[in-house]
Parts: sequence; C-alpha cells; structure tokens
Amino acid sequence: MIVVISGSPGTGKTAVSLALSKLTGMDYLHVSSFVLEKGLYVKYDEARSSYEIDDETVAQELEKFLKDRKNIVIETVYPSLINNADRVVVLRRDPRRLFEELSQRGWSKLKIVENVEAEILGYVSTEAKEWFGKVCEIDTTNLSVDQVVGKIMNETCDHDIDWLDRQDIQELLFYLDKIIN
Ligand SMILES: Nc1ncnc2c1ncn2[C@@H]1O[C@H](COP(=O)(O)OP(=O)(O)O)[C@@H](O)[C@H]1O
Ligand SMILES: [Mg+2]
Repeated sequence: MIVVISGSPGTGKTAVSLALSKLTGMDYLHVSSFVLEKGLYVKYDEARSSYEIDDETVAQELEKFLKDRKNIVIETVYPSLINNADRVVVLRRDPRRLFEELSQRGWSKLKIVENVEAEILGYVSTEAKEWFGKVCEIDTTNLSVDQVVGKIMNETCDHDIDWLDRQDIQELLFYLDKIIN
C-alpha cells in the first residue's frame, strides 16, 4: 500500500508520517531528502533557501524507487510527483497557527509568507485533488499527532476546508500581502 501524506510546510507531515509508519510498520520516504540525496535539483533559490526541481525527472526517479516497494508512507509537498497511490492524505492547518509555526523555523519573511498564503489558498490541496481525484483532508490544528493518525486509519476525513470563509483569515491574507509588497 502506498500512502501519500501531503500538505503545506508546517502542517505536520513529518510528525504524522513517522507516527503512521511506526504504527503500521510501513517504510517512510521523505521526498525532499530523496531529491537532495540523489542530487535531483536543478538550482538553489537563495531568496527562498530552497531547491528547484525538474518535476518530470523527480517523478521518474520516484517511480523507479517505488517499483519494488509495497508498503510505504511518502511525505511530499508536491503530490503530483507521485504517479500511484492507494491513499492520499492532505494535512491542513489554521493559517494563523501555521504562520506562528513557520516563523519559528528561521526562514526568510518571503518564504514564510508564500507558504502561509499557499495554505490559505489551498494550493497543495487543489493539486492533490486535481491529480488524484479523491483525497482525505484533515485539519490538524487542534489535534495531537496520534489523533491525526487515528483519523487516517479510520478514514475520518474533514470536508470543505476553506480558510477564506473566515474573516480573520481574509485579514491575515491582506496583512501578509502588505509585508512582502
Ligand atoms: N496534530 C499534529 N499533527 C502533526 N504535527 C503536529 C500536530 N500538532 C503539533 N504538531 C507539530 O507541528 C510541527 C510541524 O510539524 P512537521 O511534522 O515538521 O510538519 P511538516 O513536515 O508538514 O513541515 C511539529 O513540531 C509537530 O510536532
Ligand atoms: Mg516535513
């Protein structure tokens, strides 16, 4: 079984993937580490302290790597790098809490703002839905890691997460735009 755990940075992918892999005995693959180890990046983006990748190359290498693996939990910010999955989970987190979480990572303002905006607008979620059709979204904001893992196991998913329904999040988006522009 291939389980993809996706979501914006800071939503809890690593914590949840590791706990799920420990509980089920499934292997764990961190796509960013895979890209770095295999030197699959094309350039380094100074402003964002991140590596740019060629999607096609990475997707192909992942497909090769996954061919002989039966049970694995894959953590990735980019769901469309994975060609086959039995289950796709997208973790979501209240953008205000995400802003606090990412501010503790020592990232540049630009990188923090871009990632919080991505969560507000649901980029990863949209990509996952377009790529896989059916995904299980879980709002991790007020849950423990074990509770999130429990929801994944029981397939108890959250529906219609749209942060922009909230006035305070619309205000946050406005504020974030002002910080970087
Ligand atoms: N319910 C939860 N699910 C997952 N992570 C959580 C949860 N609550 C708090 N965290 C914490 O959130 C932080 C960010 O999680 P992390 O797994 O690094 O996210 P990501 O891999 O998506 O960037 C970690 O300190 C993690 O322990
Ligand atoms: Mg992670």
